Order: sequence, then structure tokens, then C-alpha cells
Amino acid sequence: MKPIPILFLASLLAVSVSCTTERKPSTVGTTSEVERRVDQLLSRMTLAEKIGQMNQVSAGGEVANYADALRKGQVGSILNEVDPVKVNEFQRISVEESRLGIPLLVARDVIHGFHTIFPIPLGLASTFDPELVEAGARVASVEATGQGVRWTFSPMLDIARDPRWGRMAEGSGEDTYLDTRMAEAMVRGYQGDLSDATSIAACIKHFAGYGAAEGGRDYNSTFLTERQLRNVYLPPFEAAVKAGAMTLMTSFNDNDGVPSTGNAFLVKDVLRGEWGFDGLVVTDWNSMGEMISHGFGEDRKDVARKAMEAGVDMDMMTYGYLSHLEELVRSGAVRESDIDQAVRNILRVKILLGLFENPYVDVEAGQAVQYAPDHLAAAQKTAEESAILLKNDGVLPLDPAAVRNILVTGPLADAPHDQLGTWAFDGEAGHTVTPLRALQERFPGKVTYVPGLAYSRERRDRFDDVVAAARRSDVILVFLGEEAILSGEAHSLADLNLKGSQSELLAALKATGKPVVATVMAGRPLTIERDLPNCAAMLYAFHPGTMGGPALANLLLGDAVPSGKTPVTFLRTVGQAPLYYSHNMTGRPYNGETLLDDIPLEAGQTSLGNTSYYLDYGAYPLFPFGYGLSYTTFAYSDIALDRETYATDGTVTVSFTLSNTGTRAGTEVVQVYVRDLVGSITRPVKELKHFERVTLAPGENRALKVSIPVQELAFVGLDGVKKVEPGEFQLWVAGDSASGTGVAFNVK
Ligand code: GLC
Repeated sequence: MKPIPILFLASLLAVSVSCTTERKPSTVGTTSEVERRVDQLLSRMTLAEKIGQMNQVSAGGEVANYADALRKGQVGSILNEVDPVKVNEFQRISVEESRLGIPLLVARDVIHGFHTIFPIPLGLASTFDPELVEAGARVASVEATGQGVRWTFSPMLDIARDPRWGRMAEGSGEDTYLDTRMAEAMVRGYQGDLSDATSIAACIKHFAGYGAAEGGRDYNSTFLTERQLRNVYLPPFEAAVKAGAMTLMTSFNDNDGVPSTGNAFLVKDVLRGEWGFDGLVVTDWNSMGEMISHGFGEDRKDVARKAMEAGVDMDMMTYGYLSHLEELVRSGAVRESDIDQAVRNILRVKILLGLFENPYVDVEAGQAVQYAPDHLAAAQKTAEESAILLKNDGVLPLDPAAVRNILVTGPLADAPHDQLGTWAFDGEAGHTVTPLRALQERFPGKVTYVPGLAYSRERRDRFDDVVAAARRSDVILVFLGEEAILSGEAHSLADLNLKGSQSELLAALKATGKPVVATVMAGRPLTIERDLPNCAAMLYAFHPGTMGGPALANLLLGDAVPSGKTPVTFLRTVGQAPLYYSHNMTGRPYNGETLLDDIPLEAGQTSLGNTSYYLDYGAYPLFPFGYGLSYTTFAYSDIALDRETYATDGTVTVSFTLSNTGTRAGTEVVQVYVRDLVGSITRPVKELKHFERVTLAPGENRALKVSIPVQELAFVGLDGVKKVEPGEFQLWVAGDSASGTGVAFNVK
């Protein structure tokens, strides 16, 4: 009898073992049929073919350049190809010319829209509208799949509390709760019903703590304790995993000395072990290889081994797995069973996306959905809800009937590329509607355009041309800020003031005595304190995307009412960074002590304040988290809790009346904050635990109730266990993180 090849026996055993191994509940929604298919395919794969699935390649250039690797099954995924004809050719070779015909996972950074670009994610967070953000992710998914993309490297969940960090633009800001709600919404929007060919796999990133880069300098080390990770930075990831996120990306940073791509505690213990994540883990671009630079591995073979030990499934652009895994298995440094597990995670995503049944994109149908009118409308509505009214002395909204001559000026008034913001890979400037164009279409013949500055960093001594035009106008609309390139990856800034001569332009406009309305487009909260006195109103729009122009025009003219709120703290000066609302109290909390200008000349050696602040700028921000004005005003009254004391498994219900005390309809983002006064560790002065958008007619009063399970107040304390610690608490219901009066309650 012919001996049965060991490999065949092993594959039978593997299949039988995997069939009998008790699966944890799936986080990605797998089924026993999917697992049967995964195991059946795995059992037919050679080691080389398994390793090929773990290799992701950036596919710029001609398909022919990759054909050989595709036929050999050396590529599991490609990124950066969005020509649907070429995508189909990549798939055809993989499916029809390789031994096992496994389709590719086609990936792209679809971060805030594909062709129709929405506000940058920091702007999405400013809406405090998860449902709207979910709808936007769905639009992005429909357009992206229309060009063959079935995997996006989004949502980015990195909590960011230092605006020097350029990638603050790409996340949902400083708050864990807001970030969590946005993460869940984008995962739902992208993935929807996975059997639908318009679904794309979400990728939650960058795992973990990347936004805490020391000094706000991208790629820099982070030093987050496990408690800080578990109480602030990890909850959005855990919630996104529970929401069914299919993939996750490890981050570039080393945290407390361990690069995430080799961090078994993060990936194996927390992600896989505690959260039961059974999706796909991919490295960031060459983040495996960068562990050599980190000094965490000797060479590419060493870092490939470390990434495997950490539980990373797919290698983006190091080629570490492709080059060294086979050798590492042969030497016994890596177990083939671990490779099998990684390949299962990859095949599972491909099967759940229906790629085996439907690997190709319908090119014609895919083109028809790009820039669909409802997509553009969704982008515009999101941009309208995203803009934040920071100041208004009454000049806004403008009265369209009274408009005779508007001066439009500033480097961002007609900047179709920069208005799209960072990570707008497939946005096309030709489709952007800028504020200038929107206003010219709205008021033909009544808009004068004099740029004043061609770009944000331009320096000019005089603005005679702009000032002359301003003198002839009724109102000046000036659009300032920063180009898209000045935020985003690797683009950290040490100075957050308006660049170039923008502040001087604003001062020159103010000097004309005409009403000046400033709109700032940026990828982060710039330090604009010195500019506020030189404008009657300021609208802040984190790069608002394709339809930013019509959205801003509608807001300026009152056809839409501002409702955006700051998702990050606005600093008075960059020297205050990092500054965020949910800080700890400290032993010497600041309460408005002496500032530089108040220091007596003969101060001598007396101490001035003995609290935690800056002599020159204090410790209060320019604008707090959750802040934003409307064209109406709101008041909160009758705030009451349903009990004084709650059990740890109880529910806190707060009732209150919200009133529109102004003359226009408007939408308030009601925010509920809680403080745990005493704990086994020091706790933040307050934390956001609920928000909702409420639209009221002028004069309308509405009785509202918000219920928060006491378990939402759990945190990881001194003993490392996440639980609610009984004691005294305070609760605020307000329109921003610095307002309102706390009401007390107890947990027994
Ligand atoms: C980049 C980014 C990551 C992105 C990836 C692929 O370096 O860090 O967010 O998804 O590479 O473009």
C-alpha cells in the first residue's frame, strides 16, 4: 500500500481538529459553513501558498509587473489600485491563473469618502451625529466598491489630545466616548450587510495609542500605561470589534518600548484573547520592517518572527513574511499552525465578503454611482452639520435680500484641492464646489473676488488691492486656514498660528470698518485667539470636502444653522499642549490665578499661584471640548435625577428641559458628563457619557430624559479590574464640557 503523505494526514487531522475545536463566538459574524470552507481550502494549500496570502502589495503600475507573483499565489491582497479594469485584471490572474484561484483583497484608504469627499474625520466628529456619519461611510462604500475596492483602512480610532500631531485630522478627536460612537457608526456604514457587494471590510486603526506621540510628533514613541490604554485609548477599538469590524491595523509607534506590530500583549492577549477578535490583523506600511529601525529586531527575518509571535496576519510592504516565514517554519522558530491561523483569518474575510463568488467589479455600473446626486447631498449635509460657529457678534446669518456686494477673499476661498483635506486619495478637485463658486452661483454679479494671498504661507507687506475692494463691499467673507498638505500623516506642526500673512490680511480687512466674517478651513484646531478680535464672526470648518462651498454658503446665509461642536480642545497657544477637558484634577487645580499681566512689578520671590497653570496663558483653553454656537440660543432647566443613590447594576436617569430661547430654529448637541469624585486611582474631572442632537423651534421647550447604565461608569482601577467603584458622583447636562452645574448622586 502506497504510504499516505504526511502532509495529507496532517491536513486531515488539521481539518478534524479545527472542526472539533470549540470556536469562541465570532466577532466578524462567521458561520460553521464559512469555517468549513476555510478549513477545506486551507487543507489544500502548500506552505508557500499560505504565506502568499499573508503578503500585501502596493499595486501602482502595470498589472503585468505582478502577474508572476499572482500566478504563484504570492499575493493575498493589493492596495492602491482603483482603476476597475486593472483591478479586474489583477483578480482574473489570481482567480483563473493561480493553482487555487484565491481572489485578492483589494484595499484602499477610503478615509472620508471615495470620490465624493466628506469632511475630514475630525469634521465628521464635529457633527456629533453618528447616524449621519454612518450614512456617509455607506456612500463611500458604494463608490469604492464601484471601482473594485472591498477593504478600506478606516476608521482611524486614535484618540488625539495634541493638535501638533497632524493626524488629529484623521480621527474623532480627544474623547473616548465620541470616538467610540463614531467608530461603531463607520464600521456599520462600511460593512453593512456583508453579503451585499457594496460592502467593504472596515479596518480599525492604528492599534494602539498612536495619537499619544510624545511632543505631538508623528511616529514618535508613546508611553501609555496599561491603565491609560484600557481607560482611554482601547475602548473605541473594543466597541468597534463588538460592532463587527473585520480587520485591524497595528500602529507605527512603540508604546513603553514595544512597537505595536510586535506587541503580543496588545494583539494576542487583549485583541484576540480578551475581545475574541477573529478578524484579520494587518501591519501598517512596512511597520514590520520598521521594527529594525526601532531597535526591536535585528533584521527582516527577526522582525517577521516577532510579528508572527504577536499574532499579526498580513504584512503590508515589508515582504518579511514572504521572504522569511518558510525558513522560519523549517527551522522551528515559527509553527505552521500559527501560519494556518493567520491564513484562516484572511480567508474568513474573503469568504464573508463573497469574493470567491463575486471577485470582479461591474465597471459600467460602478461608474454610474460615482458622485451620485444623493451622495453629494449627503456630503453637503455633513459639511453643514460639521462646521462650528466659534464667534458671532450678530453679523451672521447674512440677509440674502440685503446682499449687494460681497467681497470674497483669502487663500482658502477657492482651493478645490485643499478643501478636500488630508487622505482624500480619490477626491477630484474638479468636482469640488468651493465657497467662491457657491457664492458666485448664489449671487451672480454681486461677488467680488480678490484672493489677497495665493496660499496660506504667502507673506505680503501690503494688501492695497484687497482693501480697495473691501471698501467697495457691504460685507467681507474671508476664507483662511491651512492647505491639506499641512495636516495628515507625518505633518506635525510646532506652531499652530495662521501661517504666512493671514493674520495681517485679517487685520487689514478689519481696519476698513466693514463687517468681516472669517471662515477657517484646517485639519486641526489652529491657535486663532489673536485673530478673533479682527472678525465679527468666525466659522470653523475642518476641511469640509467636495461640497464644502455650498454648505458654508448655506450656513453664512442662514439656509442652514450651525450645530457643530468642537471634538477637540482649542488652545490659546501651542505651548498649552496637551490640554483636554477630561484631565485629572491634580492636587493643585488651576482656578484662574494670577497671569503675567497681573504680576506686580515688585513681586519679589512671592509665589503667584501654586496651582497647575502657565503664568502667561493660564490653563483654560480658548474653546473647550463640545463647544459651538448657533443662530439661536438654548437653555437647560429643571435638571433632576430620578434617584439620589444607585446600585452598580442600576441606571441613572436625568430629566431636564431644553429651551430654544432665541428667534430661529436650531439644533443643540445635548451633552451629559459624569465625574467619579473618589476612586482607587485619580479620575478625570468629567467624562462624556451621552450626547444627542435636539432640534427645537424658536421658543420651544422640550422635556427630555437621558438614561445611563451605572456600568458605563466602570473603569480599570488600581487592581486592574474594570468595574464601577461605589461612592460619590456628579453629573452635568450642558451644551459643552465647560458649562452647566453638576448634580450629585451616589453609587452603593
Ligand atoms: C500609511 C498610514 C495608514 C495607511 C497605510 C496605507 O502609512 O499610516 O494609516 O492606511 O499607510 O496607505
